[in-house]
Amino acid sequence: MKAVLVLLALSALGAAQTSAQPADTSDADLLLAVKATFENGDTVLAGWRNGTDVCSWRYVSCGADNRPDSIQIDELGLIGQIPQSAGWVFPNSTTELKLGKNRITGPIPPGWRLHQGKMGAACAPGLRCMNGLMRNYRRSPSRTAGLLSLYLSNNSLGGTFPADWRLPSTVGNLIMENVSLSGPLPSGWSWPANLASFNLRTNRLTGSIPESFTGSPGLQILNLDDNQLTGSIPVFTFDTAKEFYGLTATNNNFSGSVPAWPDAPKAVLGIFPGSPGVCGAVGAAAAAASEPAGMAELV
Ligand SMILES: *[C@@H]1O[C@H](CO)[C@@H](O)[C@H](O)[C@H]1NC(C)=O
Ligand SMILES: *[C@@H]1O[C@H](CO)[C@@H](O)[C@H](O)[C@H]1NC(C)=O
Ligand SMILES: *[C@@H]1O[C@H](CO)[C@@H](O)[C@H](O)[C@H]1NC(C)=O
Ligand SMILES: *[C@@H]1O[C@H](CO)[C@@H](O)[C@H](O)[C@H]1NC(C)=O
Ligand SMILES: *[C@@H]1O[C@H](CO)[C@@H](O)[C@H](O)[C@H]1NC(C)=O
Repeated sequence: MKAVLVLLALSALGAAQTSAQPADTSDADLLLAVKATFENGDTVLAGWRNGTDVCSWRYVSCGADNRPDSIQIDELGLIGQIPQSAGWVFPNSTTELKLGKNRITGPIPPGWRLHQGKMGAACAPGLRCMNGLMRNYRRSPSRTAGLLSLYLSNNSLGGTFPADWRLPSTVGNLIMENVSLSGPLPSGWSWPANLASFNLRTNRLTGSIPESFTGSPGLQILNLDDNQLTGSIPVFTFDTAKEFYGLTATNNNFSGSVPAWPDAPKAVLGIFPGSPGVCGAVGAAAAAASEPAGMAELV
């Protein structure tokens, strides 16, 4: 019986990794396929059993439509590797995904789309299917959000930041603190349109900040502290309507001059310590703003 279950789980996982995955794979099958990739999944996620209601599973919270909304499998000591090529596929109702502080290894597969169905592999070639997806969401009154938050921190993912990694455009919080990323930030990355809080603190990122990482009109805070970034600090785009916004990039090795920055208490700019080669001083207001109340929870 156990062998049959494992086989089924593996075949569900196999299906999740190809573009032929049917859009109607059940939420239970998707989560059981995730569970099956962990060495200690049977122990840590013992309550995740087929034939029982996913909404009753520990670490899974459902929305009003009885589909998974928040999946919080962080700080559980889970041991396993993100499946290479396509990554894990989660129910497309998931808005919050917490995977931090486990023993998850990587690297992050460039093809990891996180959601099944039209948001999955079928979307890889271009924007046409994104449009289809948006139409589908509009038609479904109970599901309009998409993935909002992805927490990966404190795992040893390793590898580089994949240039081709296309996150759902709905992602607003992307938390990748201390995940052993090394090498440069990719110059061609497709920045998620709604990204507001992006934390890449405590990695081993090198090279300069490419144009594709200089923000968007929705960006509130970018944290690049404790890396090995070099070059001059470019001009960023932030959502200046927020109660505070800005860049914190201490303990790197930038050069050039301190970028022009609004000298306002809500405009965060953290460069020093680190970067002895940067000339000029950070405005008093921006420097004082570099640890605003509320930032700790945000990033
Ligand atoms: C779960 O049960 C359903 C219905 O019996 C079955 O179709 C599915 O393959 C099972 N999934 C797993 C992962 O065992
Ligand atoms: C989301 O998943 C459900 C259940 O598997 C499926 O019926 C639906 O088509 C999917 N929606 C999208 C937009 O992929
Ligand atoms: C980084 O994550 C590792 C586990 O992957 C942990 O042992 C270490 O304490 C973390 N370091 C920081 C500074 O958070
Ligand atoms: C990562 O681990 C460190 C050390 O335990 C902790 O201070 C930090 O808050 C963790 N980061 C996140 C985002 O969980
Ligand atoms: C910082 O960069 C300078 C060159 O701009 C280099 O000489 C120095 O060794 C670097 N420091 C560190 C800690 O990498």
